[in-house]
Amino acid sequence: MFVLVFTVSTALVLLMRTSFDLCDRHFKDNESLSRLTAQVSSNASPLDFMNSKLVLMVSHELSLSGGPLLMMELAFLLRGAGANVVWITNQKAVEDGVVYSLEHKMLHRGVQVFSAKGQEAIDTALKADLVILNTAVAGKWLDAVLKEDVPHVLPKVLWWIHEMRGHYFKLEYVKHLPFVAGAMIDSHVTAEYWKNRTHERLGIKMPQTYVVHLGNSKELMNMAEDIVAKQILREHVRESLGVRNDDILFAIINSVSRGKGQDLFLRAFYQSLELIQERKLQLPSLHAVVVGSDMNAQTKFETELRNFVKEKNIQNYVHFINKTLTVAPYLAAIDVLVQNSQARGECFGRITIEAMAFQLPVLGTAAGGTTEIVVNGSTGLLHPAGKEGVAPLAENMVKLAMNIQNRLMLGKKGYERVRERFMEQHMAQRIAFVLKEVLQRAKGRRQS
Ligand SMILES: *[C@@H]1O[C@H](CO)[C@@H](O)[C@H](O)[C@H]1NC(C)=O
Ligand SMILES: *[C@@H]1O[C@H](CO)[C@@H](O)[C@H](O)[C@H]1NC(C)=O
Ligand SMILES: *[C@@H]1O[C@H](CO)[C@@H](O)[C@H](O)[C@H]1NC(C)=O
Ligand SMILES: *[C@@H]1O[C@H](CO)[C@@H](O)[C@H](O)[C@H]1NC(C)=O
Repeated sequence: MFVLVFTVSTALVLLMRTSFDLCDRHFKDNESLSRLTAQVSSNASPLDFMNSKLVLMVSHELSLSGGPLLMMELAFLLRGAGANVVWITNQKAVEDGVVYSLEHKMLHRGVQVFSAKGQEAIDTALKADLVILNTAVAGKWLDAVLKEDVPHVLPKVLWWIHEMRGHYFKLEYVKHLPFVAGAMIDSHVTAEYWKNRTHERLGIKMPQTYVVHLGNSKELMNMAEDIVAKQILREHVRESLGVRNDDILFAIINSVSRGKGQDLFLRAFYQSLELIQERKLQLPSLHAVVVGSDMNAQTKFETELRNFVKEKNIQNYVHFINKTLTVAPYLAAIDVLVQNSQARGECFGRITIEAMAFQLPVLGTAAGGTTEIVVNGSTGLLHPAGKEGVAPLAENMVKLAMNIQNRLMLGKKGYERVRERFMEQHMAQRIAFVLKEVLQRAKGRRQS
């Protein structure tokens, strides 16, 4: 039964972040894509008005990373509401198994897949009721393929943006942005940042911009709410790590890279151990779990982390776990999620709402989307990004380690917040609102 439940649970959609972008993440291929079927099959979708509309989706790439998979989720939602959906991938990746399998999945769900540069794509763009560009980089497709038809298509373009890094602010990508019907962005901070940067760097103005927070799938919620399965996963993972039931586990779940702040997390963890010793606190052992290692990708940084652990002699309390597509078992097993993304932070940070669904308190940097998800003092505790955040994070870790009631209360409040605003149906409702407005604006422009 043990093994059975473990296997069933790990079959849940869970996601892993890439090192490519703060907003990006990986999903488990075939399971994840079923995350919307529940939504789709429920009888009254907020997207029903999209019935029989023709939608062209332009993705900069097709891979198991956050951007493309989110767009695919939207494709299936729209299919479920009766829309005709055509998908094109601008960047022709090497034909690998992943691309093949994703395309196959889309075809299977009735999404048509066309070549990005063919006449079919151009015709569809001209005929479509709505064109959705996914990520800033997808902007390259407009001039390259549509050429003189660009002005006819822009008024019905919705641009979905999930990134917050400097190199996306290139005219080459985004010069048409002011003329599209709308932009959709994952957090208010990111939207502000885009407004500022396009204005100050490029001298262009953002179109009407909508913030759409992401939401947890039904599968994830079911898992998070299954107390028995959660308990079994918890015991299983703890046993495999060699930690006791009452040891306190702090985990950071992101692909390992400097931008995600695993180095500063480990420093804070070490400081918290020192504080506990100095203050002679009697506590169960604290452990740090770093999920998202990839020795092949970030060797220098990974080596730096391991050297730190060796140098401080805390090997028994720090656990590195390879990048995995399945994070549910870890969310079930740990006590606190640390979201330590640096600089401008996460564009949104989906792991944060996933952890909150599992009733975990979050210790997060006061940056980016995290500030829109975590309520300081209520669902978690925020610390500053950068080196100056290390000491406050260490204090916060000690604080949560000392007080289980506080931990449980923060976790419970986090869960309630997720149920109130970060569920798949909330996201679908917000997207429906955006699509309605964008369609209306497109229609207005056609008539004028
Ligand atoms: C998932 O993918 C694997 C390999 O790509 C395949 O063997 C398996 O049948 C797929 N499962 C589903 C449910 O599509
Ligand atoms: C825009 O960003 C610059 C730095 O990049 C900052 O100095 C300025 O205050 C920002 N403006 C607004 C309105 O946020
Ligand atoms: C983790 O990944 C490394 C290579 O990146 C590999 O050598 C190692 O066996 C993996 N560990 C596990 C437990 O899969
Ligand atoms: C979070 O709350 C704590 C205590 O209430 C406060 O000291 C800290 O400055 C707050 N941090 C942020 C980023 O608001």
